Amino acid sequence: PALTRFALRGDLLDFGAAPRWGEVDSPAVRHRPDHWLLVDGGRIVGVQAADPGADWTRVDRSGRLVLPGFIDTHVHSPQIDVIASYGTELLDWLDQHTFPAEARHADAAHAGIAAGTFVDALIAHGTTAAVVFPTVHAASVDALFGAAESRGMRLVAGKVLMDRHAPANLLDASVAAAERESIDLIARWHGRGRLAYAVTVRFAPTSTPAQLEMAGRLCRDDATLYMQTHLAENRAEVRWVGELFPEARSYLDVYARVGLLHRRSVFAHGIWLDDADRAALRDAGAQIAHSPSSNLFLGSGLFGWRAAEAAGIAVSLASDVGGGTSLSLQRNMADAYKVQALAGERLTAWSALHASTRGAAQALELGHEIGAFEPGASADVCVWDWAVGAVAMQRDRVARSLHERVFAWLTLADDRNLVEAYVAGVRQYARGRGAGGAAV
Ligand code: GUN
Ligand code: ZN
Repeated sequence: PALTRFALRGDLLDFGAAPRWGEVDSPAVRHRPDHWLLVDGGRIVGVQAADPGADWTRVDRSGRLVLPGFIDTHVHSPQIDVIASYGTELLDWLDQHTFPAEARHADAAHAGIAAGTFVDALIAHGTTAAVVFPTVHAASVDALFGAAESRGMRLVAGKVLMDRHAPANLLDASVAAAERESIDLIARWHGRGRLAYAVTVRFAPTSTPAQLEMAGRLCRDDATLYMQTHLAENRAEVRWVGELFPEARSYLDVYARVGLLHRRSVFAHGIWLDDADRAALRDAGAQIAHSPSSNLFLGSGLFGWRAAEAAGIAVSLASDVGGGTSLSLQRNMADAYKVQALAGERLTAWSALHASTRGAAQALELGHEIGAFEPGASADVCVWDWAVGAVAMQRDRVARSLHERVFAWLTLADDRNLVEAYVAGVRQYARGRGAGGAAV
């Protein structure tokens, strides 16, 4: 049987505030080595240095790193099938690889199996919450939410909206039909357990103005809905949006004009923005899901994290699989560091980790539930090896400061470092046992 009340011992690391850009010695970091995390009824109830005693089932993971589960703020569930596809930039990549894979989700049986595989893969990478694009098919949304629900996961997702510039088998039949399906899915899933619905416009080029208006209406009718889309990822895409929407001031303005720019908006990428866009994003309280692996793999560009930060925009980290080549948020943190290095900037381990945990949670208005070891939060917790393999072990041994150690960890680690993942206090992954790791 799953444990409902236990104490987990290890090197606890999380954040009590947002770290400042470039600050290596950050007061925002809460490092509690060899502490106990107390979990009861699926929630975190405390952290302490002292052994809690025999009243608690003690799970001793001393010498290991214990983090809040990662939050992947932009990822595509049907795109495991196209991860690592050779030879294209965004628009050709969609046509040649991605749209054909998504079309296969018209088959509900296929969508069901794919959803389970995807959600288990997230957890096996230490990602316990995610903001996800399934496909245009309502059955793919049901399958994805169902898979998350059965594992107790926090998930934000919604039916992809597309009614032009994609293969016919991926297009909504009409604006009214897409609206009806969305309303139906919202009624079924939004606010059910740990699930929330996101109005999901794929990106401006694949929606008619009428469909964009409809999506904006859905958001206006219920301010608790999320909105997710892609924004200014690739230069050819930006040029195309300019041609399709000549009346808009910018790519972001296409969304803003119809009511898709708000505090629960999650914009993937946001590479090619200007100061007015950044000010509008900040004023709306919207969020950029930075996807460095994808940006490098598809040759999209180098995200200006420092400029976004300076403008006061919330930036979270994301894998954007299958544009990104790994669900591992450590891999994405390492790529984010390299992207910033190319721009002459230095991304600290703290900014990278915060954007994958507490920062992402707060931007999603879920800071009370996920992202940090706060009493009352869901016990979404991962246990990691500090080092796997001879090189990482040697590097770890000689680290002289906490930042040095954590930076080397996130640069060298990936899913092989994951020992266990708990979701709402239930162990859903244990290394060597695969998905659905049996209870402790
Ligand atoms: N823009 C529109 N659709 C997509 C997608 O599936 N992946 C990425 N990376 N960008 C997009
Ligand atoms: Zn994407």
